[in-house]
Amino acid sequence: MPEFSNPFRPGAGHTPPYLAGRQAERQEFLRLLPQTTILENLILTGLRGVGKTVLLDSFKPLAVNQGWIWVGTDLSESTSVSEENMAIRLCTDLSVITSSVIMETLEVPNVGFATDSERIHRTLNYPALMDLYRGLPGLPLDKIKGVLEIAWRALSKRQTVPGIIFAYDEAQNLADQSGKEEYPLSLLLDTFQSLQRKGLPLMLVLTGLPTLFPKLVEARTFSERMFRVVFLQSLSRRESEQAIRRPVEDADCPLELSDRSVETIIGASGGYPYFIQFICREVYDAFIQRIDLGERAVVPIEEIEQKLDTDFFAGRWARATDRQRELLFVISRLESCDDEFTVQEVVEESKRSLDKAFSSSHVNQMLVALASQGLVFKNRHGKYSFAVPLLGRFISRQARG
Ligand SMILES: Nc1ncnc2c1ncn2[C@@H]1O[C@H](COP(=O)(O)OP(=O)(O)OP(=O)(O)O)[C@@H](O)[C@H]1O
Ligand SMILES: [Mg+2]
Repeated sequence: MPEFSNPFRPGAGHTPPYLAGRQAERQEFLRLLPQTTILENLILTGLRGVGKTVLLDSFKPLAVNQGWIWVGTDLSESTSVSEENMAIRLCTDLSVITSSVIMETLEVPNVGFATDSERIHRTLNYPALMDLYRGLPGLPLDKIKGVLEIAWRALSKRQTVPGIIFAYDEAQNLADQSGKEEYPLSLLLDTFQSLQRKGLPLMLVLTGLPTLFPKLVEARTFSERMFRVVFLQSLSRRESEQAIRRPVEDADCPLELSDRSVETIIGASGGYPYFIQFICREVYDAFIQRIDLGERAVVPIEEIEQKLDTDFFAGRWARATDRQRELLFVISRLESCDDEFTVQEVVEESKRSLDKAFSSSHVNQMLVALASQGLVFKNRHGKYSFAVPLLGRFISRQARG
């Protein structure tokens, strides 16, 4: 009998054995592809582990099937250091597809290209793109626009392409640095907005934590109109069940899950994809051991939650100070803690549950600090939410334990 190994994949960006749900989001993406003039770009956003990266990965073949070129990568904080770094990022990603395109002299403004023979044979590889960037006149915005335009013209002359998608994951890392007079985030937005207005079919697809969109709007108000924002939620009951059952339906799979086990897993995961993968992986291993021993297995949910607390939550919790934990505890007592809450609600609850209540300016300050630590985020209506799924339940477990 072929060895059947544990199919579940808890881990950032690991393709799940079965990608459940997300049809509406896929439709939303497909709807953007027929645009010839790009009026809408896409943002995929949502809490940690909700499935942004794997969904973005699944968009690539959809676009490529329709002839689109797809480039991009993860955005790190270092991309955000300067405008030049942002430009380097775009040139690097673009060069993957343009490095085989040979340029004719006339197509390129006479910049940085040393000799005649070089002029004739030069391809648009990374050094050539950067030469162009450095040689073009103007500010970084003028330069990078120039590079993208030249590259697009060269590319579209040789093959029929609907356009290029620039897909960037972890885009919440982008930021302008006004202290250093460096505006890489604004550079990115201005570049695409301007080229799209000129009719170039270069589309942006950004994914990131819920801080992403407010950040873009703060940098450039036109981001409101430029992006279609898709907020990924936890999976529905039915989708959760599929994510759990499909991977073990294989005839060779030694594991069988009762309806009750599936219910337990759905409940404990809250339908969050990362938790589903994590819990199912543990359940699989635990069940296989019991089956080997000839025993009937039940989901060891407390042990699994304990492990999840250690592996997933504890690190984030450890970074909070005692006073911050107190505040988080107060928030976890709010009925709406897994949805959204206001400073005022937190202040009121602190009067009920603490000897020494928080003032609203104190709550405000602390929420700002917790936001920069990635534990909460402020939405566009000025309300706050936990940035980590099921954080409220974890905190309650800590308070009890
Ligand atoms: N639709 C889905 N069905 C089943 N499993 C999924 C689904 N989406 C994501 N997963 C699983 O959930 C986990 C987290 O997915 P992913 O890394 O894409 O999340 P993310 O939102 O990008 O997280 P982060 O905020 O940390 O970047 C992975 O183990 C992945 O296999
Ligand atoms: Mg991700």
